[in-house]
Amino acid sequence: MKTTLSVIKADIGSLAGHHTVHPDTMAVANRVLAEAKRSGVISDYYITHVGDDLELIMTHSRGTLDPKVHETAWNAFKEAAKVAKDLGLYAAGQDLLSDSFSGNVKGLGPGVAEMEFEERQSEPIAIFMADKTEPGAFNLPIYKLFADPFNTAGLVIDPALHNGFRFDVLDVYEGESVTFTTPEESYDLLALIGTTGRYVVRRVWRKQDDLLASTVSIERLNLMAGKYVGKDDPVMVVRLQHGLPALGEALEAFSFPHLVAGWMRGSHYGPLMPVSQRDARATRFDGPPRLIGLGFNVKNGKLVGPSDLFDDPAFDNARRLASDVTDYMRRHGPFMPHRLEPAEMEYTTLSLVLEKLKGRFKKEEGLTKAKHSVYTAQSSE
Ligand code: 13P
Ligand code: 13P
Ligand code: MG
Ligand code: MG
Ligand code: MG
Repeated sequence: MKTTLSVIKADIGSLAGHHTVHPDTMAVANRVLAEAKRSGVISDYYITHVGDDLELIMTHSRGTLDPKVHETAWNAFKEAAKVAKDLGLYAAGQDLLSDSFSGNVKGLGPGVAEMEFEERQSEPIAIFMADKTEPGAFNLPIYKLFADPFNTAGLVIDPALHNGFRFDVLDVYEGESVTFTTPEESYDLLALIGTTGRYVVRRVWRKQDDLLASTVSIERLNLMAGKYVGKDDPVMVVRLQHGLPALGEALEAFSFPHLVAGWMRGSHYGPLMPVSQRDARATRFDGPPRLIGLGFNVKNGKLVGPSDLFDDPAFDNARRLASDVTDYMRRHGPFMPHRLEPAEMEYTTLSLVLEKLKGRFKKEEGLTKAKHSVYTAQSSE
């Protein structure tokens, strides 16, 4: 029998700004999921949060995009948002873009990372969840994890990994996808996924047998809503060991706190800081962007665990570097490249400010208009 792992997340409102979820909202989500477990819709679940994002980790045997499972998640978010509203939490219901549910949560605001698989004898998984950033934030670590032998020793040492992986990449602006195999097409892959705001790695398969190894939530809230409503705060699921990367190889990919888009008002680059569950709260300048990791084993549809993977002094240096980079980036204030580039800023509230300034410009004689503006999301036009 196949098991489905569904990680569905949403920001339903948070305490004291975009900082952290309130325990009462988690409690009500827990009631909804407990009832779904009792009635057999799901087999098991675990609820957590990173910053202001409520994360529902569920197992079941219904496959991906199952209406009942998605409705359960939607109801949990709706109930939690009600509590958030009653408590006067900030941005109650933030990521719930629609009032009505129809079939699955896709396009309604929540982020989704799901995979269906035949459980191996031992099925170790890691779930990475980030706040104050976007799905493309995982492009760099997922590349390192599945395609860089300086990160993943198994690519060289283990015959099962040695054949490489296949990456599914989504163009979130055009709604098109493309796949590349590594190592042979690594440079083509990198040519796209270095543009993190547009090309997002969505799934990775082991090439030799098409085993699904990883999946990432790709929802880009602002593109759905057409305006700034917060960042997308992605999740990524990785299957581990026995012909897949080891847990330690997955964690190694996050030992470098690379710069990601998000942070304050979804408008700044900052380092992705790996933290324990305890430190999964957005503070300084609404960040810096945080990442948590939980390790589980999936057995007969049950979630065994979790282990709090970054609750470990081995990541102190990564955190220290992230803090130093935070100081460095912050000193740029409103200047690029701390502030995002114009194409990404179109989906923030800056456009309202720029609109106001339009009438202030006067035509300069002898200067011609450029073919296209830098304030456009479609960089290829
Ligand atoms: P153990 O001997 O502790 O199982 O380690 C095996 C391994 O491959 C670690 O990466
Ligand atoms: P969230 O997407 O985490 O709600 O962040 C919104 C924001 O603007 C933080 O400054
Ligand atoms: Mg928020
Ligand atoms: Mg958030
Ligand atoms: Mg968000």
